[in-house]
Amino acid sequence: MEVVILADEREVGAFAAGRIASMIDKHPDAVLGVATGSSPQQTYRVLGEQVAAGLDVSRVSAFALDEYVGLPGDHPQSYHRVIAETVTEPLGLDPSRVHVPDGMALDLDAACADYEDRIAAAGGIDLQLLGIGANGHIGFNEPTSSLASRTRVKTLTARTRADNARFFDDPDQVPRQCLTQGLATILDAHTTVLVATGTAKARAIARIVEGPVQALWPGSVLQLHRRATVVVDEAAAAELE
Ligand code: F6R
Repeated sequence: MEVVILADEREVGAFAAGRIASMIDKHPDAVLGVATGSSPQQTYRVLGEQVAAGLDVSRVSAFALDEYVGLPGDHPQSYHRVIAETVTEPLGLDPSRVHVPDGMALDLDAACADYEDRIAAAGGIDLQLLGIGANGHIGFNEPTSSLASRTRVKTLTARTRADNARFFDDPDQVPRQCLTQGLATILDAHTTVLVATGTAKARAIARIVEGPVQALWPGSVLQLHRRATVVVDEAAAAELE
């Protein structure tokens, strides 16, 4: 695992955006795995600047990591909408090439299987951008997730619901379930880049980088990946040995 420690959020975003941009330069039809939440926003901002400066993303595809169950696509906090507003539109991606799991499907298991099929049909994910929860989740693979898991329905922990309550008017509105790529789905990506900033992530970063590989700290599974990079600011690196 490559660990890169930088001064602040701005440098973390610039580093991750640089990795993504050089991959798109080499492979204009790259398949990008995209995360929601606060962590990757600086990466998307810098990438947007590179697109404005001429980086061609017209053939890039994207797959989101996860989606809440039961939020319609036009709900402001549905990841369909969040990905559209923070990734597809600002980067100028072709919306028909941007995929998000269907958390409104009548048959959620079939929607998960279909999502895996769509990733495979696209040729797999070239670079998966990740954030990490304070409890060590990647995607919404909460602690005790199987290291062999594929895209499936998961129940969100009280901790994750509380962490994400900041995006909703009322904490009770945070959905209880989600669809998420599994840990094995994430490991299938050719390259992974995890970004984390701030002291709230320091414990999780120390556990996933230096602790044993274990389902209690799902991000630790990245130790099994041959091309995993963890990019953190000094605050998120504070508990590393
Ligand atoms: C989001 C996702 C989550 C977040 C994590 C950190 O699609 O998969 O794993 O990356 O919850 O969220 P932030 O960045 O808001 O702290």
